[in-house]
Amino acid sequence: MPQLLEGKTVLVLGVANRWSIAYAIGQAVRREGARLLLTYQGERQQKTVEDLGAELGAEKVIACDVTKDEELAALVEGFKADGVTLNAVVHSIAFANREDLSRPFVETSRDGFQVAQDVSAYSLVAVARAVVPLMPEGGAILTLSYLGAVRVVPNYNVMGVAKAALEACVRYLASDLGASKIRVNAISAGPIKTASARGIKDFSKVLDGVAAHAPLRRNTDPAEVADTAVFLASDLGRGVTGNVIYVDAGFQVMGLLSS
Ligand SMILES: NC(=O)c1ccc[n+]([C@@H]2O[C@H](COP(=O)([O-])OP(=O)(O)OC[C@H]3O[C@@H](n4cnc5c(N)ncnc54)[C@H](O)[C@@H]3O)[C@@H](O)[C@H]2O)c1
Repeated sequence: MPQLLEGKTVLVLGVANRWSIAYAIGQAVRREGARLLLTYQGERQQKTVEDLGAELGAEKVIACDVTKDEELAALVEGFKADGVTLNAVVHSIAFANREDLSRPFVETSRDGFQVAQDVSAYSLVAVARAVVPLMPEGGAILTLSYLGAVRVVPNYNVMGVAKAALEACVRYLASDLGASKIRVNAISAGPIKTASARGIKDFSKVLDGVAAHAPLRRNTDPAEVADTAVFLASDLGRGVTGNVIYVDAGFQVMGLLSS
């Protein structure tokens, strides 16, 4: 079988553990023949991500906290020094303070709002700007969003507002970078049990609701999200940019939830 990403190099940001959506994406891009590069956030994650990187056959595992411009710059300089060019970059990163994912949205603090926007939305802009020089032949930049960007999901709160900003960033970046043959898209994934998702109050109720009401009557498998990432990163996705593609067992089409 031909491999969809043969000869391509894919940088994935956002592996924290085996349950991370980014880990599933790492598996899928390796299955499709890509050279894989990973990043980790801070020393606390280094050993775990290095071990996971070894399992996945990643060629490099590099520190990159996306709130630190100097770490992004060092990542790019390191790649330049090694002659690395990229075909696809996956941004699978978000953060909000836990208290902002449990109390009413109206109580969101200025600091909480800013941290969610900085890590979860602005970082896509910073990453895109940093990696453009590494994509001389064009390529694909992908990020992960959620339905809370466009509809109210209880307790998703400040993260929903950050995802709305993220999806708008996708459109503006797609417009800016299209002339350089760089496509920018988001995958809006259905709820998946990961470390980040566990920070959202009553997350298990969200999972139950989707399984009961989504057209496919089940939750989303991270491998399905990863296969869509492969499509977008590969030449099969060559005509798609500025989009948000839902991989959510169809849940977002429902208006009324039948009992
Ligand atoms: N799990 C879900 O239900 C779901 C649904 C839709 C979208 N998403 C999105 O998928 C993406 C990945 O989340 P996940 O569910 O796999 O959880 P996860 O906790 O496994 O991944 C989140 C990642 O963000 C990284 N991160 C946070 N702050 C960072 C920083 N300053 N610098 C670098 N990295 C940082 C963490 O280290 C972690 O690797 C997020 O954007 C999330 O919002 C998740």
